[in-house]
Amino acid sequence: MTPPETTQAADSFRNHALQQQQLLRQRMSKIKHKIAVISGKGGVGKSTVTVNLASAFASKNKRVGILDADIHGPSVPKLLSLTGQHLKVGPPGAFPVTGPLGIKAVSIDFFLPEEGLPTIWRGPLKMTAIRQFLSDIVWGELDILFIDLPPGTGDEPLSIAQLLPDIDGVIIVTMPSELSRVVVKKANFRTESRHAHNRRC
Ligand SMILES: Nc1ncnc2c1ncn2[C@@H]1O[C@H](COP(=O)(O)OP(=O)(O)OP(=O)(O)O)[C@@H](O)[C@H]1O
Ligand SMILES: [Mg+2]
Repeated sequence: MTPPETTQAADSFRNHALQQQQLLRQRMSKIKHKIAVISGKGGVGKSTVTVNLASAFASKNKRVGILDADIHGPSVPKLLSLTGQHLKVGPPGAFPVTGPLGIKAVSIDFFLPEEGLPTIWRGPLKMTAIRQFLSDIVWGELDILFIDLPPGTGDEPLSIAQLLPDIDGVIIVTMPSELSRVVVKKANFRTESRHAHNRRC
């Protein structure tokens, strides 16, 4: 590319990123509360807690959404009996799949052509996917959005911390085992996000 073409490409990239940032803010401003569910170790019950909490709030007539931010091991579709479903796309963006009690759900599984296909993605691609889940999905007005994360302090929780500086809370799930307790201390969401933004945790 010649230098003017390089500048043009950089400008267009910057504009696109700015537009997406604005869209993300606009979509997220319609959601009253955003709660992430994390853990140190895997398999301790994050997805179960997420779906149970979402169902409890939905049964009290709250408008609830679940973002399955576990890119490699999505469990939300299975727990909500929504496997095999796909997002519907319209002019304003992609619409979440509506599950039991009207819970709106988004998961990487809803984008895959076949259930159970592995998702082998590196960090930057995962962050892009999570950003798009927040900016390009037409969540509409919600009382609570629960975000089910994979274990540990990898790309997904870090992306959420950076993209949602105004997150209302984080639920850290653990179980009564010495190993889980030791590892959960490392999953300090507040520490991860402190460098990027000041926010409540
Ligand atoms: N309170 C509980 N008591 C007993 N078993 C449970 C409890 N909560 C979840 N389980 C079981 O533990 C297993 C793992 O649960 P779940 O998938 O919710 O964990 P997770 O933390 O989301 O896992 P991952 O780290 O892989 O995302 C499931 O088989 C689930 O049925
Ligand atoms: Mg899980």
